[in-house]
Amino acid sequence: MTRPTLLLIHGFPLDHSLWDPNLSALNEVADIIAPDLRGFGGVVSMDEVTTMEEFASDLFRVLDERGVERVVPCGLSMGGYIAMAMAEMAPDRVDGMILCNTRSTADTEEGKEGRRNSANDARNKGMHVIARAMAPKVLGSTTRAAHPEKVARIEAMIAGQSPSGTAAASLGMAERPDRTSVLLGFHKPALVITGDEDELMPLPTSQAMTEALPQGQLVVLDQAGHLSNMERPEAFNAAVIHFIRTRSS
Ligand code: MLT
Repeated sequence: MTRPTLLLIHGFPLDHSLWDPNLSALNEVADIIAPDLRGFGGVVSMDEVTTMEEFASDLFRVLDERGVERVVPCGLSMGGYIAMAMAEMAPDRVDGMILCNTRSTADTEEGKEGRRNSANDARNKGMHVIARAMAPKVLGSTTRAAHPEKVARIEAMIAGQSPSGTAAASLGMAERPDRTSVLLGFHKPALVITGDEDELMPLPTSQAMTEALPQGQLVVLDQAGHLSNMERPEAFNAAVIHFIRTRSS
């Protein structure tokens, strides 16, 4: 099997540097593309709302510019929503999928209301306030207790994002459809990764995605929360490397 290209898609409201702890290890088995999404990491956005399909189209453009036809998207949380949109929009370009700390279902009405509140908070209160509130929620209890430097790093990463980009993505997530049917029809290798301390995407969410995927495999990292790739980087990297080396189609 030829060396694949892994497209690392960051979560919300973060940027490509989320993947720093994974780049060199994963580069042993794959070419890596880890872009900033529109509105994040200094990429300017004028959008009121950025849908998952628009993020996916941006990523296909990045691939076109680099002459890359097919990829294995590896998306964390919102990045997973985008990976599933890519699989729906251009299934022939998606060779496999790695879905980390994410879900295939749409938001509830209460969840959509929360997105509108988050968008308003980003615009009105500013990213420092969002960062202070969010950092402890996205990291697991073990990381919070044992790795204050990781808490500080994530808080700074969130604080550095643009309020308007954050608001547009929040409203875009509210519009995403249920993509469980995309998983049911995805007959290629797929890996679902989560952390046993993920308070935002509880374990049954990942179990349901794995069951929906015809070739789904589930890896649960212990002592990891919502940002499993940076909370347990060695274990995360080992799971991805094993998946890449052993996938059969
Ligand atoms: C993320 O980490 O990307 C977010 O938790 C996704 C979400 O809010 O649904």
